[in-house]
Amino acid sequence: MDRPNAKTDRRKLFVKSYGCQMNVYDATRMADVLAPEGYDETSDIADADLIVLNTCHIRERASEKVFSELGKIRELKVGRAASGLETTIAVAGCVAQAEGKEILRRQKAVDLVIGPQSYHRLPEMLRLAKSGPVVETDFPVEDKFDHLVSPAREKIAARGVAAFLTIQEGCDKFCTFCVVPYTRGAEISRPVAMIVAEAEHLVASGVRELTLLGQNVNAFHGIDEDGGACTLPDLVARLSHIPGLLRIRYTTSHPNDMSDDLIAAHETQPVLMPFLHLPVQSGSDRILHAMNRKHRARDYIELVARIRAARPDIALSSDFIVGFPGETEDDFQMTLDLIAEVGFASTFFFKYSTRPGTPGAEMADQVPEDVKSERLARLQKLTDAQRHAYNAAAVGKVMPVLFEKTGRHPGQITGKTPYLQTVQVEGPASLIGSEALVEITGTSTNSLFGQLAGQVS
Ligand code: 5AD
Ligand code: SF4
Repeated sequence: MDRPNAKTDRRKLFVKSYGCQMNVYDATRMADVLAPEGYDETSDIADADLIVLNTCHIRERASEKVFSELGKIRELKVGRAASGLETTIAVAGCVAQAEGKEILRRQKAVDLVIGPQSYHRLPEMLRLAKSGPVVETDFPVEDKFDHLVSPAREKIAARGVAAFLTIQEGCDKFCTFCVVPYTRGAEISRPVAMIVAEAEHLVASGVRELTLLGQNVNAFHGIDEDGGACTLPDLVARLSHIPGLLRIRYTTSHPNDMSDDLIAAHETQPVLMPFLHLPVQSGSDRILHAMNRKHRARDYIELVARIRAARPDIALSSDFIVGFPGETEDDFQMTLDLIAEVGFASTFFFKYSTRPGTPGAEMADQVPEDVKSERLARLQKLTDAQRHAYNAAAVGKVMPVLFEKTGRHPGQITGKTPYLQTVQVEGPASLIGSEALVEITGTSTNSLFGQLAGQVS
C-alpha cells in the first residue's frame, strides 16, 4: 500500500498537551523545531507519523491519564503498521522527566522519552530512536532556548491573536506538595534580548496579546543587553514599546515575589491587564506552614489590599488545595473564610494528590478521599457563587474586548475582556485581532454576551 504522505515526503505530527500553559507553549515550540525536519501538524491522531504526548505530572490523575492514553496509541500504531505505516511515539513533558525509563517498561510501544529541557534536541533524538528506544531526561548544559527554531509568520498567525511566551522556567520554592522543582528544575530566567526578539516576531506576525509564562514568573530576573538585571516590571516596560502589542498578562505568580515595583506597574502600565492569578493554596496558617509557602493568610490578604490600592478593578484568581495532610475542618473553614474575604473572579481547586518524592507524600495525617471530596464540593459551591456574582456585575458595563476568533454561531465573534472573561458578540470577523468597546448585556455559565459599543480611543 502507498504511504499517504510519500509524494510530498513530508510527515504528519500530532502533539497532545496536558496540564499547564507552559506545556501549550512547549507544544508549539516542538512543532517549530520539527517543521524544518519535514513535519506538518495534523489534528487527526490516526493520520500522524509522529505522536507526541506532552504530559503533566502535577497530580496523580494527570500522570495516570498518560498511560491509559498510551495504551490507545499503541493500538493505533499496531493498526497503522498493518497498513505498512510507521508510527513513532514520543512522551515529553513532566511525566517523561519524572518517570524516564519507567515509561518504556510500562509501555513498550514508546520510542522516545524526552524531558522539557531537551526539546531543541528532538530531531537528533528521533534519529537515534530509529535504532531503538531512547530516554533523554538530562538537564543539558546548553540552553534549549538558544537552539529552538523561530516559527514562520503564517504559522504564528494561524495560532491566533493571543500567544504564550515562556520567560522563566523551574522553581526554587519547594512547596511540600509540588513536583515542579524536581521535574522542571531550578529557576532560570531567559535573557531579555531573546524574549524581546521573540515578542517582536510574534507581534509582527499578528499577535496582539502576550501572556508571559513561568512557574514562578514574578521571580523573573533576566539579564539585559548590558549585563544588568531585569525584573518582571522592567520587562513589561520594555515590551510595552512594541508597536501593535495591546495587552500583556503574566502567570503564575507566588505571593512572596509580588514586589512593590510589580504592584506599581499595575497602576502605571496600561498594557498590563487587570487580572492576576495569585495562588494562595490555603487560608490556614498551620497548613500554609506545612506547605512551606512561607507566608501567612493575613500576609496574602494584606498583599491583595496593596494590589487593589494600585489597581482597584483588578480581578484576582487563585489555586487551592483541599485535603493537604493534617488539614482539619477548622483549617478548611479558614480557607472558605479567606475566599469570602478576598472575593475571587475565578478559582482553581484540587484535591491533594500525593506525589512521590515530595515531602508531602511522607507526612502523617493524610486526609481520607471522602473528606477531600466533601470539602471540594463545599469549596466549589462558594467559588461558583463568587464567579457568577463577579460576571453578573459586568452586565451594563462597557469595556474593551480583544477579539480572538469567530464565535459558536454564524455572525458571532469571541473575545476577552481585560479581566479575562470570554465575551460573545454579534460582529464582523474583520474585528478579529483588534479591540472594540463592548457593552456587556448578559452572562451564561462560561461566558458573557455583549454588543459592540464603539471603537477604543
Ligand atoms: N496535589 C494537588 N494539587 C496540586 N497542585 C500542585 N501540586 C499538587 C498536588 N500534589 C496544584 C497547586 C498549584 C497548581 C498548579 O496545582 O494548587 O498551584
Ligand atoms: Fe510548585 Fe508553584 Fe510552589 Fe513552585 S511555587 S513549588 S511551582 S506550587
